[in-house]
Amino acid sequence: MSKLSEYYEQIKDCKRCHLYSGRINLVFGEVNENADLMFVGEAPGYHEDQQGRPFVGAAGKTLNELLAEIGLKREDVYITNIIKSRPPNNRDPLPEEIEACKPYLMEQIKIIKPKIIATLGAHATKTMLNKNVSISKVHGQSFKGNGFTIIPIFHTAAALYRRQTLELLKDDFKKLKELLKEDPIPEIPKEDEREQGQQGSLF
Ligand code: URA
Repeated sequence: MSKLSEYYEQIKDCKRCHLYSGRINLVFGEVNENADLMFVGEAPGYHEDQQGRPFVGAAGKTLNELLAEIGLKREDVYITNIIKSRPPNNRDPLPEEIEACKPYLMEQIKIIKPKIIATLGAHATKTMLNKNVSISKVHGQSFKGNGFTIIPIFHTAAALYRRQTLELLKDDFKKLKELLKEDPIPEIPKEDEREQGQQGSLF
């Protein structure tokens, strides 16, 4: 059994927060345990909860299409969320739910060791950067994590009804493609080149 599968077995009946009582499945993540690129979304929705897989609804279809545009398939990347159980009526995750689930995300990152983590939307971005940033301002920028680069991008659900957001996502996916070619992880920018907020990464 792979390390990630073993880890999933350990946590699949998690009751660290009250969300366990309303879920059908804990949505752990998939697919590639050796991925260079990892996506971190917000929380499972209805379809994800039903199937126990992340990003399988409309937002997932957009994610698959954006991946295809840069020559990637879901099997090439790893996709997960900051919280693993569906919040009621798809409401925003609460701070205590994010806190309760954070160790799981950290352990997944430790096992996968991605080069790049793309955070989808405001909640995942704020959680990973440990900062109250605006996704509209920081999307497409690189932030230094502990052994990886964090790139905030818009949530693919936000692109479902806004053509402009979809175009911004397409541009940011092109950046992801370029960054994936870089090896090793990009140099830490010099102090005076850093944007405010580039130092506060959680991991
Ligand atoms: N939105 C998310 O943030 N995550 C999913 O898994 C599905 C939709």
